[in-house]
Amino acid sequence: MARRALLKAALMLGGFLALGSGAARAQGNLVMYCSVNEQWCRALATAFQQQTGIRVDMTRQSSGEMYARLRAERNNPRGDVWFGGTGDPHLQAAAEELTEPYQSPTLPQLQDWARRQAERSNNRTVGVYMGALGYGYNETELRRRNLTAPRCWSDLLRPEFRGEVQMADPNASGTAYTMLATMVQLMGEEPAFDYLKRLHRNIDQYPSIGAAPAQATARGETLIGVVFQHDAIDAQRANPNVRVVSPCEGTGYEIGSMSIVRGARNPEQARRFYEWVLTPAAQALGATNGSLQVPSNPATPMPPGAPDLSQIRLIDYDFARYGSTAERTRLLARWTREVKNAR
Ligand code: G6P
Repeated sequence: MARRALLKAALMLGGFLALGSGAARAQGNLVMYCSVNEQWCRALATAFQQQTGIRVDMTRQSSGEMYARLRAERNNPRGDVWFGGTGDPHLQAAAEELTEPYQSPTLPQLQDWARRQAERSNNRTVGVYMGALGYGYNETELRRRNLTAPRCWSDLLRPEFRGEVQMADPNASGTAYTMLATMVQLMGEEPAFDYLKRLHRNIDQYPSIGAAPAQATARGETLIGVVFQHDAIDAQRANPNVRVVSPCEGTGYEIGSMSIVRGARNPEQARRFYEWVLTPAAQALGATNGSLQVPSNPATPMPPGAPDLSQIRLIDYDFARYGSTAERTRLLARWTREVKNAR
């Protein structure tokens, strides 16, 4: 009897140990939606997986497309956390309760602009980086055509740039939506649409990825690419003759954001990822992967070569307004109707 009881106890203990070590091995999964440049998305997924044992399944899509995906998946959420991309669609997702409120203990340590992003969304999103809009041009191609360098937004309308300017489609891309909202704030809505219609004549194509025009500029496929300035700097790795312009009239900026998906299947892993992303060690992965935005944790070293935002004429971007569903939907519909699809 005593031997049988002992055996049973030993078996139970063995089972318990096996369960314990199994649980230690399998830390679970994380479905990461990502809207920054592919290289940074991959680096984050790999580092987080290595450091935690949590298996990461990463998908990259542009900010506006990712917002639309969250909306489509509202009743059956697939993603757990949405990292990066411009803040406006994150705010829209927050207002539509597609994302979950979460107040990070790290919040008080973050830059003001990152905290304000959390405040205006009732903690459904937070700022992870900041970047200023502008454009890049290919100096070799410009010289070959004997053209003078553009300096301002107004220069993009010059007739010699016909078919030579590229920007993404603002319906898909947060970068391009930032451009649209920036023009409206800089000029007023009617003059902004007049500008965008005239600019349309010079546009060669509207891709869906915001940074794509910087790469196209580096390859000489387009002369000018409207992008965030850090993306034009990144394009210099491929072609050092890309020049970065901070437009003379002033420019808008983004508060790249992060949100936890409402109804996430792996909420614990999502929160763990969220906290990890706010640490200086994780934020430094941007700089080593070609992404030179200003990090939201001030303890993260500034990426070498990052644009100095204190030297850039930034507008007072109204995130609450241009991140609202009503304004974003209205401006995008107007742009599609009057600019992209106009005959
Ligand atoms: C690039 C930039 C990011 C920006 C993102 C938006 O990755 O480096 O700063 O947030 O584009 O992407 P999207 O494709 O939505 O314009």
